[in-house]
Amino acid sequence: MTLEVQGLGIAGLVRDVSFGIARGERVGLIGESGSGKSLTALSIMGLLPEELAASGSVKLEGRELLGAPERELSRLRGNDLSMVFQEPMTALNPAMRVGAQVAEPLRIHRDGRNHRAAAEELLDSVGLPGTSRAYPHQLSGGQRQRVVLAIALANDPKLLICDEPTTALDVTVQAQILELILDGVRERESALLFITHDLAVVASVCERVLVMLDGEIVESGTTRDVLTAPKHDYTKKLLAASDLEASR
Ligand SMILES: Nc1ncnc2c1ncn2[C@@H]1O[C@H](COP(=O)(O)OP(=O)(O)OP(=O)(O)O)[C@@H](O)[C@H]1O
Ligand SMILES: [Mg+2]
Repeated sequence: MTLEVQGLGIAGLVRDVSFGIARGERVGLIGESGSGKSLTALSIMGLLPEELAASGSVKLEGRELLGAPERELSRLRGNDLSMVFQEPMTALNPAMRVGAQVAEPLRIHRDGRNHRAAAEELLDSVGLPGTSRAYPHQLSGGQRQRVVLAIALANDPKLLICDEPTTALDVTVQAQILELILDGVRERESALLFITHDLAVVASVCERVLVMLDGEIVESGTTRDVLTAPKHDYTKKLLAASDLEASR
């Protein structure tokens, strides 16, 4: 298992959450606003706000992350572990050219390579050739999210977490970013934890899905099973309220 979460609790807000993600597997995390999806993701990254204590176990390739020293976690972030958030500007430095920002995780975690050339290649791979000298404000929202993805994928993460990575983008751009995420994790055999409200996105991206309600996982299974034969009332409601139901 790439990721093993066991009995995760977060300050009473998340309770007894357990799941695993195998190498190269893509798992969706859905559930209503406030159900604890982002907190779960942040706890894996070691980025929970200090006032929220986590308990249980989070293992990346067998290594315990909960309670690991910050030094160790910062060696993993941007390297074996990376995350893409909803709003790309929060992840980018407005005063730094995007090429340098893509090169940064390479510079920090890898030595002995031509980081600038590698950054150009990464920008190419997300459909942004020739943009390395641009500043974030010179790019569209979709282009910025491509840059963020290039940064997140730079060191071939074992686990990529995406927290509503396309929610702020319009529909056509959403589809392009999803495709890039899929290509990116497939090429690298990265495990993917994908948080979204959009069941159609889950259906197209994820092989398995976890449903969260009020801080707990109330249902999980293959995407096909959960979306065609939901067991929990909450999942049924979610499905009934989605476009997927209408298109079935
Ligand atoms: N720093 C904090 N202190 C106290 N409570 C918090 C803190 N951060 C989040 N919460 C609460 O924890 C719960 C879960 O929040 P979380 O952000 O994980 O929800 P979510 O499932 O990601 O929702 P959304 O779909 O809106 O992004 C919410 O009730 C939220 O108000
Ligand atoms: Mg959230």
